[in-house]
Amino acid sequence: MSGNTFGVLFRVTAFGESHGAALGCVIDGCPAGVPVDKAIIARELERRKPGGDAPDAAPASTTRREADEPDILSGVFEGKTLGTPIAVIIRNHDHYSGDYDALRDVYRPGHADWTWEAKFGVRDHRGGGRSSGRETVGRVAAGAVAKSFLSQYGVVIQAWSSSIAGVAAPAPGDPSFSLALAESNSLRMPAPSEALEEILAKIERLRLEGDSGGGVVTCVVRGVPPGLGEPVFDKLDARLAQAMLSLGAAKGVEFGAGFASADSQGSLLNDTPYQSAATELLTPAMAPDGVPPMSFKTNNAGGVLGGISNGMPLEFRVAFKPVPSISKKQTTIDRAGSVRELVVKGRHDVCVVPRAVPVVEAMTALVLADMFLLQWRNWQRN
Ligand SMILES: Cc1cc2nc3c(=O)[nH]c(=O)nc-3n(C[C@H](O)[C@H](O)[C@H](O)COP(=O)(O)O)c2cc1C
Repeated sequence: MSGNTFGVLFRVTAFGESHGAALGCVIDGCPAGVPVDKAIIARELERRKPGGDAPDAAPASTTRREADEPDILSGVFEGKTLGTPIAVIIRNHDHYSGDYDALRDVYRPGHADWTWEAKFGVRDHRGGGRSSGRETVGRVAAGAVAKSFLSQYGVVIQAWSSSIAGVAAPAPGDPSFSLALAESNSLRMPAPSEALEEILAKIERLRLEGDSGGGVVTCVVRGVPPGLGEPVFDKLDARLAQAMLSLGAAKGVEFGAGFASADSQGSLLNDTPYQSAATELLTPAMAPDGVPPMSFKTNNAGGVLGGISNGMPLEFRVAFKPVPSISKKQTTIDRAGSVRELVVKGRHDVCVVPRAVPVVEAMTALVLADMFLLQWRNWQRN
């Protein structure tokens, strides 16, 4: 099974199944001297963690309760990376594999059961094996390291839930929009709790019906210097889109004005450039001679032109479909080809969106760390 390694210079190999002994990642290519310790990785894993069945648990999330404690096996010494491969494992503890016995010979609608079996001829049916959302812990651990690397250059990545189960959060510009609130509620919505009641009620209704919902994660990255992204196949937006669509349940990505661009006009959509003061985040080495510092009056491009960052915030949205494992009765077939009625057991998210927020941030960090290292050669030439 290939496709478990991501990145060109900042390379991450992730491993592990939902109900195996452990999941984790090996990061090769992270420069030496980056601040990394267990707490930095644990903080990001904590954000991804399911809510458990505690009263304050995230209402949209599975009741699986994992400690998600990272163990750094190599590559870090006294709180700094060594420049050697960084291996991190996260052991599985809270898995009830018996819940999945019924899925051994049955294919869940909307999940990867049949396609994996059609490809490999074998599948770990327990919790979805490697096609489980739990697979993302390795990405989040690696993303924490990438975030620490990027923060040295002033890059700040923030994602939030912008719609859940068809109910939209206030958009930037709306008086009740507050990014500061996004991490203070379990839905990760940038809104005061009064504005969340409709969504909480919708999620509860879906849960009681044994159903699930989808939604959208918005991600904004500030402090991105111009010049990140490699023509032609490794454009910044292309790599980010690949990173996002590699997530389970992700069905669409749009940058800036996105799909609405198709109905616009050049005169309305083009972001008007103006000569700006060089951004303080751009060191002289990052700003080539003879190229005027430029900024833009709007950001319909979402921070990318020609696949290269233009110094504006990166802005994109990722659409997630409803969680496929639902306890509402569905029709499917089994390995013998017989029609079966299926009620999926096990513990599942009602909506992946709040838990996908830190995962989107992690994948963004992995792409940007890689793009930073790739651009280094050009900066050194200046
Ligand atoms: C953070 C996260 C959590 C997820 N949790 C679940 C879950 O509890 N149950 C489930 O059936 N799918 C869950 N998924 C989605 C499945 O992994 C995904 O739908 C499945 O692998 C099929 O892939 P596809 O939807 O991309 O085609 C989750 C995905 C993510 C990113």
